[in-house]
Amino acid sequence: MEAAYLLCSIISTTLISFSLSLLLSFRLLFHCLFPRSRTTDETASVALYDGTVWHERRRPVHHSFKYSVRYAFIDLDRTPHSPPHHLSPQQARDIAQTNGPVFLLTIPPSVGYEQNPLSIYYCYSKEGSTTTLNKCIAEVTNTPWGERVQFLFNPNSDVVAKPLHVSPFMDMLGNWSIRTTTPGDNLVVNISVKHPKLGDYFTASLRANRVSSSSIDHAVFFWLMPHKVALWIYWHALKLWWKNVVFIQHPRYGNPSYKEDAMARDRSLACCQAFAVGRNESGQVEKSSESDFDSDVNKNNRWFKWTDAKWPWC
Ligand SMILES: *[C@@H]1O[C@H](CO)[C@@H](O)[C@H](O)[C@H]1NC(C)=O
Ligand SMILES: *[C@@H]1O[C@H](CO)[C@@H](O)[C@H](O)[C@H]1NC(C)=O
Ligand SMILES: *[C@@H]1O[C@H](CO)[C@@H](O)[C@H](O)[C@H]1NC(C)=O
Repeated sequence: MEAAYLLCSIISTTLISFSLSLLLSFRLLFHCLFPRSRTTDETASVALYDGTVWHERRRPVHHSFKYSVRYAFIDLDRTPHSPPHHLSPQQARDIAQTNGPVFLLTIPPSVGYEQNPLSIYYCYSKEGSTTTLNKCIAEVTNTPWGERVQFLFNPNSDVVAKPLHVSPFMDMLGNWSIRTTTPGDNLVVNISVKHPKLGDYFTASLRANRVSSSSIDHAVFFWLMPHKVALWIYWHALKLWWKNVVFIQHPRYGNPSYKEDAMARDRSLACCQAFAVGRNESGQVEKSSESDFDSDVNKNNRWFKWTDAKWPWC
């Protein structure tokens, strides 16, 4: 059932992307023949980044790779086209309890396809005339299930209990250390996984430089970017399988309460972090994919939200 669904979605994505790519080339041709003044809204509210993602797994086998990626850094209050399937700037501000602008770092959909393992909301605080990066919200989506978890973190450095089955080659134990810089001419996102048995066994990092975007057509810049990310994910899964790394079943079959467990681990993690002054925990376990935000969700600095997989994975 799942395999048939996967096959159908690969075929339909290929057909849709091929047709939309044809349309895109016609549109570009049209604009070459009949140049128009570019709308400034899009270029003013979106910064473009070009960079590299590194993955390194040290145990049980060593496996590392890197690939180039392109990201958009979108001012959510100013963009004329809000990216679909993401938080609104006000929702992000309510969660992060900030009062300034909210930017979303994401790979936008290209020719009808979306694939975004990690997006990050950068929530700024305004005090007088200065705006500083205060909080971030990570949005992690797993493949092929398409489940999503969103959680709040402190960009300077934070540790959260692993909340999602992101890879079929990792169990649910361990915690994620995450940090990111304030995006400027370049940006860095570092994530490492500490596991009770495997130790410090996995690191992922994104390093990207801002590209001057005024003359770039965004549809061309991001053309097939999500498709490449999906290919890398499946290709490296195949290689890990080839290296005999044990395939781990989704925790929903063996431990349906894995989300509550993650929150409980996160609570004890927060208690043990001496620097976490006044840190508190709150979270939601959601069944539906579109749920309302409770205003009391967000006590202090802990917030998680899960969005379940779509049919047929559920
Ligand atoms: C991110 O990780 C890389 C490689 O592990 C390291 O060189 C770099 O200093 C880290 N950057 C930040 C901001 O943590
Ligand atoms: C993270 O998880 C590991 C393994 O479960 C544990 O040893 C460590 O104390 C945890 N906390 C932090 C802050 O790393
Ligand atoms: C966390 O929040 C709960 C309920 O809101 C409260 O009872 C508890 O004292 C808080 N803990 C800390 C460490 O602030």
